[in-house]
Amino acid sequence: MSKRSMLVTSALPYANGPIHLGHMLEHIQSDIFVRFERAMGNEVYYVCADDCHGTPVMIKAQAQGKTPEQLIEEVGVSHRADIKGFLINYDNYYRTHSPENQFFSQDIYLKLRERGYIFTKTISQLYDPVKNMFLPDRFVKGTCPRCGAKDQYGDNCEVCSATYNPTDLKDAYSTVSGAKPVLKESEHYFFDLPKFTEFLHDYVKQALPPEMANKLEEWFAQGLKPWDLSRDAPYFGFPIPDTKDKFFYVWLDAPIGYMASFKNYCDKQGIDFDAFWKVDSDKELYHFIGKDILYFHSLFWPATLKGSGYRQPSKIFVHGYVTVNGAKMSKSKGTFIQASTYLKHLQPECLRYYFASKLNAQSVDLDLSLDDFVAKVNSDIVGKVVNLASRSAGFIVKRFDGMLGDKLVDEALAQKFTDTAPLISQAYDERNYAEAIRLIMMLADEANRFVDSHAPWVLAKDESKHEELQQVCTQALNCFKALITFLSPVLPNVYAASQEFLNDKLDFLSATTPLTNHKINKFKPLFARIDPKDVEAMIEDSKQDLKAATSAAPAPTTENAKSADSAPTDYIPLAPEITIDDFVKLDLRVAQIIKAEAVPEARKLLRLELDLGFEKRQVFAGIKSAYKPEDIVGRKVIVVANLKPRQMKFGLSQGMVMAAGEGGSDIFLLSVDDKAPLGSKVH
Ligand code: 2FM
Ligand code: ZN
Repeated sequence: MSKRSMLVTSALPYANGPIHLGHMLEHIQSDIFVRFERAMGNEVYYVCADDCHGTPVMIKAQAQGKTPEQLIEEVGVSHRADIKGFLINYDNYYRTHSPENQFFSQDIYLKLRERGYIFTKTISQLYDPVKNMFLPDRFVKGTCPRCGAKDQYGDNCEVCSATYNPTDLKDAYSTVSGAKPVLKESEHYFFDLPKFTEFLHDYVKQALPPEMANKLEEWFAQGLKPWDLSRDAPYFGFPIPDTKDKFFYVWLDAPIGYMASFKNYCDKQGIDFDAFWKVDSDKELYHFIGKDILYFHSLFWPATLKGSGYRQPSKIFVHGYVTVNGAKMSKSKGTFIQASTYLKHLQPECLRYYFASKLNAQSVDLDLSLDDFVAKVNSDIVGKVVNLASRSAGFIVKRFDGMLGDKLVDEALAQKFTDTAPLISQAYDERNYAEAIRLIMMLADEANRFVDSHAPWVLAKDESKHEELQQVCTQALNCFKALITFLSPVLPNVYAASQEFLNDKLDFLSATTPLTNHKINKFKPLFARIDPKDVEAMIEDSKQDLKAATSAAPAPTTENAKSADSAPTDYIPLAPEITIDDFVKLDLRVAQIIKAEAVPEARKLLRLELDLGFEKRQVFAGIKSAYKPEDIVGRKVIVVANLKPRQMKFGLSQGMVMAAGEGGSDIFLLSVDDKAPLGSKVH
């Protein structure tokens, strides 16, 4: 078979936040594909980058007192560490804020303009009069026009699922400044997508599986609309040529980032970039993406490439979302797990294996069920594969000086491995990793049955069975060799360590070639079982990540909310302005909690006894959901000391203890430096 040549990409993570396990599904999926195709002898280039532009990055940088360049640099460092930590082997992990990307974005735009695919139109949009900027839909909140729910985003209501325009919201406010947005006109640049309808209609049938192409029929039936590809300053992006203060919308230059990352790599390595991107290229181009960004990849991206004279992607591989324990990843449940938090507690190959065992070529959601994760990884990798080696290697090393025997005795078993190998390869090539893993584990079960039925530990006790012992262990180790080679795209570290142990270069294409009359090395542990405590610790740590995020900058983190909870740091509009005279009416004092107890008949209340230095008071505080009474005795707090006492069912409440947060577990008592004397006034 002739060698194939391909370029493979994963979607570019936004440079405004950490990589989480939802992202990792895609990087792992594409990395397994690339490792497999390379093992087949194909030429594969594999690139990714950070997606740096857009309003969220700009706002987040501002909130952190940084330039966008500083922010993307920092985020880039952490993304790269996460990618490496999960053994994802990109040839180049670049960024979209790069000279190469600016060149291609402008080049593509100018070609589209030259060919008559760009037009301008004046549109009216919501504008923040305080920040002097136009507001993307996700940066406007207000009351849902349908159900009246407060604080809903500008494009849809999370309570009643209504979709609408941001101008339909009641009491709208900008989440950037809290100001009431106004309507303002501006000239925008549009890409004439409808002109590509016929081309795209054919294209999606060839680039997507039939069930997905069928789904897109809905979009075609509604009619494609021109695409607004400009944004007004202030915006972090590339300037549009021959305009003043107009920038490319982030989604114009994001996929061009695939080309730019590859170009940057080609220039360093002397690879022929044009051979991959010219219209009649015979190279394959594959994009791995999530289903939420299908519209951009199956319509805008191929149409802009077509209109500017470049080749289009060969196929677009679309996966679903990650859920954890059957539900959307949730920050408060600790199941919104960052890649770096996972890596603090668990080996990357555990997740690689678990995802692989559940991934196929369809875009259904994948559930990371944590109990199943522990059980499957421990039972399959340790129980079925690594144990095969550990049980047999000791006998070979101790009794036979490390030498394997001269043949495989169970020819039927060996044949089964040989016959299954092409099916495993086919499954990998079709990205049906679940099927590949099923076949590999089926072989592992056969191999374990072979070992159990010959019981080498019994043979070892009988001098006359010396030769049989060597043969059984030789075959078991040959089974292990084939299994770990088949698993090499998924478990690259275990594979590398196994080559060392077997003292041989393990090659996918000759995975089942017998290894006989060969000296192996002493067995060293290849893989550690997962301790369920480590999973619990990871979940706890993820809850801490939430707390850290809550106390960080008060800016939204995503322009498009995805499978996660909405960001905890959403802006809450400021209260009306007050004067200093208003402020001094409050008498805030330092006090110490000297006693705390739950009020049994009240769901939210703790009864606190406070020492204000000059007197003691009783206060009922609604902090039961966040604090245990025994944890806060002795703590200094701030009290609104001149609040009118309130007679409650349980007694008199003489003041209010101050806390931040939105309720539930999100309540954070205000603290004061421990040296502050009791009763001192807060100014
Ligand atoms: O949805 C996202 O996370 C985008 N940053 C993906 C961009 S993929 C490509 F087009 F750049
Ligand atoms: Zn609603």
